[in-house]
Amino acid sequence: MSDDGINTDRRRFLTTSATVVGGVGVLATVVPFVATLTPSAKARAIGAPVEVDINGIKEDELKLVKWQGKPVWILRRDEKSVDALVNLDDELRDPNSEVDQQPEYARNHYRSIKPEYLVVVGLCTHLGCSPKYVVEGDGEPWGLPDDWQGGFFCPCHGSLFDLAGRVFKGVPAPTNLIVPPHQYLSDTRIVVGDDSGES
Ligand code: FES
Repeated sequence: MSDDGINTDRRRFLTTSATVVGGVGVLATVVPFVATLTPSAKARAIGAPVEVDINGIKEDELKLVKWQGKPVWILRRDEKSVDALVNLDDELRDPNSEVDQQPEYARNHYRSIKPEYLVVVGLCTHLGCSPKYVVEGDGEPWGLPDDWQGGFFCPCHGSLFDLAGRVFKGVPAPTNLIVPPHQYLSDTRIVVGDDSGES
């Protein structure tokens, strides 16, 4: 018997019982959680579409999601950036997206369904590094031109892409960035990896 009047052996038993019961409780919680996660992880591994909430992405902000194990960027471009895209043709290798790097509905100057949002695989078409998103005015540390209007810079070998993922002339990357199949479910939700409803 201890000072507080509780039998020590009984307290030890209660503590042990509580631990076991608690453990069962945790296990019971964990098993269904894992059971839910595992098929989903498997599904993702084989390329299941990924639904993305684009509500809350600010102008000039880039959201990263994973699809088929690859980074996919969703960039919200401001009006000025969108307007500037039509003036870069002379500097770009494939300004009209003639090389098959995008679905038909993204074969335009914006390379997107809606001019405001770019959806693109964030892997350089040279050797697969992940380029940096460099906004207008931030080019100096990367040695980019003074008139840099924003875009993507791959530091591996110096490839440059504009804000539509179109490759500039004179860099190692041969083609524009890949636009994955995607579609809008609503104004604020898109799905990457499925464009069955897209005309
Ligand atoms: S991998 Fe991007 S420039 Fe080489």
